[in-house]
Amino acid sequence: MSQRRLFVTTALPYANGNFHIGHIMEYIQADIWVRYQRMQGHEVNFVCADDAHGAPIMIAAEKAGKTPQQFVADIAAGRKPYLEGFHIAFDNWHSTDGPENHALAQQVYLDLKKAGLIDTRTIEQFFDPEKNMFLPDRFIKGECPKCSARDQYGDNCESCGAVYAPTELKNPFSALSGATPVLKNSEHFFFKLSDPRCIAFLKDWTTSGAVQPEVLNKITEWIAPGEDGRPKMGDWDISRDAPYFGIEIPDAPGKYFYVWLDAPIGYLASLKNYFDKTGRDFDAFMADPSTEQYHFIGKDIITFHTLFWPAMLHFSGRKVPSQVFVHGFLTVNSGEKMSKSRGTGLDPLKYLSLGMNPEWLRYYLAAKLNAKNEDVDFNAEDFMLRVNSDLVGKFINIASRAAGFLTKRFGGQLTHSFDTQGAALLQALRNASSEIATLYQEREYGRATREIMAMADQVNVYVDQNKPWELAKDEAQNDKLHQVCSVLINAFAQLSRYLAPVLPALAVQVEKLIGQKLDRWDAAAEVDAIAPYQHLMQRVVPEQLASLFEAPAAAPEPELPGGEAIAPTISIEDFAKIDLRIARIVDCQAVEGSTKLLRLSLDVGEGRLRQVFSGIASQYKPQDLQGKLTVMVANLAPRKMKFGISEGMVLAASHADDKAQPGIHVLEPSAGAQPGMRIH
Ligand code: 2FM
Ligand code: ZN
Repeated sequence: MSQRRLFVTTALPYANGNFHIGHIMEYIQADIWVRYQRMQGHEVNFVCADDAHGAPIMIAAEKAGKTPQQFVADIAAGRKPYLEGFHIAFDNWHSTDGPENHALAQQVYLDLKKAGLIDTRTIEQFFDPEKNMFLPDRFIKGECPKCSARDQYGDNCESCGAVYAPTELKNPFSALSGATPVLKNSEHFFFKLSDPRCIAFLKDWTTSGAVQPEVLNKITEWIAPGEDGRPKMGDWDISRDAPYFGIEIPDAPGKYFYVWLDAPIGYLASLKNYFDKTGRDFDAFMADPSTEQYHFIGKDIITFHTLFWPAMLHFSGRKVPSQVFVHGFLTVNSGEKMSKSRGTGLDPLKYLSLGMNPEWLRYYLAAKLNAKNEDVDFNAEDFMLRVNSDLVGKFINIASRAAGFLTKRFGGQLTHSFDTQGAALLQALRNASSEIATLYQEREYGRATREIMAMADQVNVYVDQNKPWELAKDEAQNDKLHQVCSVLINAFAQLSRYLAPVLPALAVQVEKLIGQKLDRWDAAAEVDAIAPYQHLMQRVVPEQLASLFEAPAAAPEPELPGGEAIAPTISIEDFAKIDLRIARIVDCQAVEGSTKLLRLSLDVGEGRLRQVFSGIASQYKPQDLQGKLTVMVANLAPRKMKFGISEGMVLAASHADDKAQPGIHVLEPSAGAQPGMRIH
């Protein structure tokens, strides 16, 4: 096949957070495909960028006390460890806020305008009078118009699932300022997607093989005429009012492109940035009809990529995507009950920091991925099984079983005269080349890895039948041992080549072992000699998985102050009900018949003494307290006790658990307080 020229992207991640495992899965899926294409000798330009614009990022930046530019730059600075860590080799990483994207987005818009596909309309929207801005739906809250649940977002109710317009919310408020939003008119720009030209084009494009069949089913609903004969899909609102972090619309002061207009144009901008840096001609590349364009995306952003984006490209006179590849979501241990404390997510950086091999994850995901828009579950046990039994047990072990003998007994030299069975085995492995290639091309990685492991099984059967460890014991079998081990290393080299798109770092190690490159799909030279064998891959140990899913060390249970939790909040009015007064302990006596109580005679400035029994005998002798000042509750209802009436209560401090911390401490005011003074 002649050399193809490919432009490949993954979805541009929002620059308001670090990557999660879902991003990594998409990048690995695309990276495997790109590496496979390169092994076929094709030219691939594989780019991505940060999706920088939009209201949520503008608002997050403001909260963080940063300019949006700084905010986005800080996020971008954290990308590298993930990409390098998982061997994801983009040719370029850029930003949708780069100058290329500003220029390209404005040009695409002007081209669409020239094609007569831009409209303006006045729409009524909620406006935050305090923040002085129109509110995106996500930032309007209120009560659900259907079920009256409080604190619901402007677009749908999380309580009853109702979908509505923000203007239908009861008692709406701005999530930014709390202010009641007001309705205000604003002129918006629309891309006329419901124009018959657009519909006709989209029908053609979506049925041209550009999307997977299950994706086409979804799209068809949007394009097909509804009861009124018009497509369900309306025109697309592509403008937002200032303040907005985005790209200004030409000749429309204070108006910006909605983030989803300029985001996919960011694919082109990143490619242009890459070409400019490497001295290549971006315009010529994109104008070349043979250039192929592919986008890997998740199932949540299908409409943007299969309706809006191809139409934008086509009607602005640009190349349309050859194919859009949609994948499902990645779930983690989905069979398990979700538990907050167990930390059910799979944190990619934690994975790496535990010393887990990134190629285990690449292999595992490859084994589970197919060409369909289907969710993939990461299951810890399954992961360990596939890596340990298949990858290491079946595949890596082929090399370790043969290399030692070759080094020790034959100076690392291989023979090219194989036994008949070995020669047939190698031929069978090579014959599978085009079948495996097709599976990679079609993104059927799960089937590709199964085929490769089935071949590893065949190789292991050959090992078991020929038993090199037995041959090694018999000097007369030296030639046979040499042949068998040579076959095994050649078989291992071939399987490594087939797995190279998935396991690029392993392939580099194997290249060193066999002294040959594995970067061309169909180059099948025989191995002449090997370097001393070094262990190629460890097994997963259960402890690693346990740590990976262990909840981050929980914050220690906070000590209860004084041994008991603070009581529920009371109002100042509640507090005012308690009349606390300074009291002088005029007299203090032991109580006959009680080891706990002392009888206090208290002066609270009333011109009389009050009798109060207090359970402090364990701590104080009567003479300790006589003459002292303290604090009492003066309006506590008098209580009849065994030894007489108690007319109030003296304040004393103690720990809730007097075994943990014994002691009772009567309160004493600081100097100057007088009996009868109220405590406020
Ligand atoms: O859904 C998202 O995460 C978007 N940032 C994807 C944008 S893809 C492309 F259009 F830029
Ligand atoms: Zn509701």
